[in-house]
Amino acid sequence: MIIIFLGAPGSGKGTQAKQLSDARSWPQLSTGDMFREHISTKSDLGMKAKSFMDKGELVPDSVVVDMVAVRVKNPDCKNGFILDGFPRTTPQAEALDLQLKGMSRAVDRVVLFEIENEELVRRLTGRRTCPKCGSVFHLVSKKPQVEDLCDSCGHKGLKQRDDDRADVVHNRLDVYRKQTAPLIGYYQKQGKLRSISADQDFDAVFRDIIEATS
Ligand code: AP5
Repeated sequence: MIIIFLGAPGSGKGTQAKQLSDARSWPQLSTGDMFREHISTKSDLGMKAKSFMDKGELVPDSVVVDMVAVRVKNPDCKNGFILDGFPRTTPQAEALDLQLKGMSRAVDRVVLFEIENEELVRRLTGRRTCPKCGSVFHLVSKKPQVEDLCDSCGHKGLKQRDDDRADVVHNRLDVYRKQTAPLIGYYQKQGKLRSISADQDFDAVFRDIIEATS
């Protein structure tokens, strides 16, 4: 099954994609994580992406589309995969449809994470990430068991993402509204969209996702 998680920054896509990936053994393809990996190795692609990400702008379509096109051909995507943060523009969605068609495949379901802006700001500005393994925490709603220590790998020193600073967060939400929200109509027309409330506790959101993707 090919699933897209569509929703504003901070709506919980990454958290839930990881859980669904573990439950169904489908890889989680997060374009944000792919870019952050490139940034950590200081690759040319990473440096180019960083200049957009730091401002809360989208990385140009051609760069993202080519990167995903390579990734979905990987054998681990054979039985299905979860796209987390891609597509984010209509040209990206069209390119994805075209590529999957060429592979005799298609998107099966698009899960839309619905949530108010105020809660998104709270989630993004309070998010802390482990720089070693990428595990995600929150200062209020998902505290690590020991302050500042990663529950998964034990690394000390959880960090705030550069683009989770309040000034950048507002631009990211604006960019979502202008450039990504039109995809709601795109997938509605294809009959693939299922909306869930992302403003519930972690387990309730996951239950709704299981229902929406069954
Ligand atoms: P990316 O990394 O994809 O960021 P995003 O889409 O903005 O999403 P986030 O990772 O911020 O949030 P999320 O929805 O995954 O929420 P999370 O689960 O972490 O992209 C970063 C940048 O890369 C973009 O701005 C762009 O520049 C570039 N980029 C990426 N893809 C691109 C593309 N396709 N095209 C062009 N550019 C692209 O949760 C957030 C917080 O809330 C966490 O602290 C979590 O613990 C907490 N939380 C989650 N769920 C709950 C809950 N139910 N209750 C309480 N707290 C919760």
